[in-house]
Amino acid sequence: MRLMQHKKEAYWFYRYLSIFYDKLVNPLFWTEKMREKSLDLGYWDDPETLRVIDVGSGTGFTTEGIVRRVPSENVTCVDQSPHQMSRALAKRELAGCTFQLGDAEALPFDDDTFDRYVSAGSIEYWPDPQLGILEAYRVLKPGGWALMIGPLEPVNPFSKFVANTWMLFPPEEDYHQYFENAGFDRIDYTYVAPYWQKSERYGIAIIGRKPQAGKSPYAYTPVPHETAVVNAEQEGMSLGRGMLLAGRVLAGSAAGFLFIPMALVASITAPLRGIDKEPEPLNQHQKVALVAVGVIATIFIVNRLAKRR
Ligand SMILES: C[S@@+](CC[C@H](N)C(=O)[O-])C[C@H]1O[C@@H](n2cnc3c(N)ncnc32)[C@H](O)[C@@H]1O
Repeated sequence: MRLMQHKKEAYWFYRYLSIFYDKLVNPLFWTEKMREKSLDLGYWDDPETLRVIDVGSGTGFTTEGIVRRVPSENVTCVDQSPHQMSRALAKRELAGCTFQLGDAEALPFDDDTFDRYVSAGSIEYWPDPQLGILEAYRVLKPGGWALMIGPLEPVNPFSKFVANTWMLFPPEEDYHQYFENAGFDRIDYTYVAPYWQKSERYGIAIIGRKPQAGKSPYAYTPVPHETAVVNAEQEGMSLGRGMLLAGRVLAGSAAGFLFIPMALVASITAPLRGIDKEPEPLNQHQKVALVAVGVIATIFIVNRLAKRR
């Protein structure tokens, strides 16, 4: 399993990432345009009657799109990170939502509770994605729709290696398989990508309908279970597990943070790389980060040149 595809590791990763998640991460990797295109795949007729669950809701960026479609009082947000959730709790437009700490693979709700299930950019951290999608099926009412948005395995061998070492980037067929196995019907999908990406197949939004009440009929044997930090008994950790956790979080965070400057550079060089999509302007935080990257790169180059003389 990948560095960050663990519940404890993801919990600690977001402990710090949550600080600048909305400022630097989403505007590059999960933009408003991508969110709107994904949510438009959903069915939002009769919004007053819809009960919606947003799983892995994080800082509430996708929830902000959901509450444009249904009243916030109808929306329940679940995440395993109290740090991410505290950012969502501070957003005025989400004041009517219900917030609950919980695990995507063991949702704290009865069968047949919600009309719509949404999860955006969270599956890549789940140790057992099939189990998470069986949970989506279980908590939906019959006739309810599950909409899952997640990254796709990159085609470029280097990006594929980095991505797969870091977290789960499922190949497209896996998403279809998870949905079909769970028993969803009327499956549909679309691709989403930020403006600076050449490939359209950067991420997928996939939707399916639950045809009948109750749990999924799929006889599935879950992978060895990991308990989310929010559900775990407070207990000590072995030295080995502690070291593994720290190592994975450090390496995973380094890989994750490296993606930010790479994406910033990719976004300003997009026209030079022949990408003619409408550019999305950088925000103040991204500009500051870009200047910092430029300064560090200049110092590095000047230093190398000085050593050569
Ligand atoms: C990339 S963020 C996406 C947040 C949000 N959906 C958005 O659109 O910005 C991933 C979120 O999934 C949450 N997460 C990871 N594993 C989880 C799990 N097993 N159960 C619940 N939430 C989880 C993380 O805490 C994080 O907030």
